[in-house]
Amino acid sequence: MSRTPWTDRLAEVLGAWPREPVYYRKNVRDKIVSLMEENRGSILLDAGCGTGILREHLPKWIKYVGLDFTPEFIDYCRGKFKDEFVLAKVEKIPYPDMYFWAVNSTSVINHNANWRDLIKEMMRVSQKYLVILTTSHDKATAVIGTKPVLRIRFNPKDIIDECSKYGAVEFEKAQDRNADFTLGLFTVKK
Ligand SMILES: C[S@@+](CC[C@H](N)C(=O)[O-])C[C@H]1O[C@@H](n2cnc3c(N)ncnc32)[C@H](O)[C@@H]1O
Repeated sequence: MSRTPWTDRLAEVLGAWPREPVYYRKNVRDKIVSLMEENRGSILLDAGCGTGILREHLPKWIKYVGLDFTPEFIDYCRGKFKDEFVLAKVEKIPYPDMYFWAVNSTSVINHNANWRDLIKEMMRVSQKYLVILTTSHDKATAVIGTKPVLRIRFNPKDIIDECSKYGAVEFEKAQDRNADFTLGLFTVKK
């Protein structure tokens, strides 16, 4: 994997993004724990895991695989955690169909113009749940921190329609009150 829009940004990301567990998307973590409790022993995929902040704040009994296309983030996570970390694109996940019980993706599809391909692939490898935390409504912006990074702001209906194509039957949308107010949490049940 060569350069990505996140290359050379590890220090910035570690310094600037919120690290404190209560602030950091507690409702998302609680949701994921409850989904994984339905099938203990199954595996969670964190698609676009970044610095592994989700792993950091999940209970250890949850089997976790982190995936990201930015080599520095994967190297950092491999040095910090004991779990499996994979260097790959979310649009080409190197696992069989329905390998994971649940797939989480926090603040990732909004940075990809081909976000529909990412949803298709995450639905393929998920047996039951897809949890997407992303920006909803408002306008798109082009810069995050110091560097240009595409940031799409979605109409939630577009995400729901896309997931429906691949077998999603139930949706739950919740505002993430513990983080950026523009983030919407979508839980999809297959
Ligand atoms: C805004 S960060 C979010 C990181 C993490 N999920 C979090 O909540 O802190 C976006 C992450 O997704 C990764 N990413 C973006 N698009 C990706 C893609 N198409 N395939 C794999 N990783 C991707 C980036 O390398 C970066 O680590």
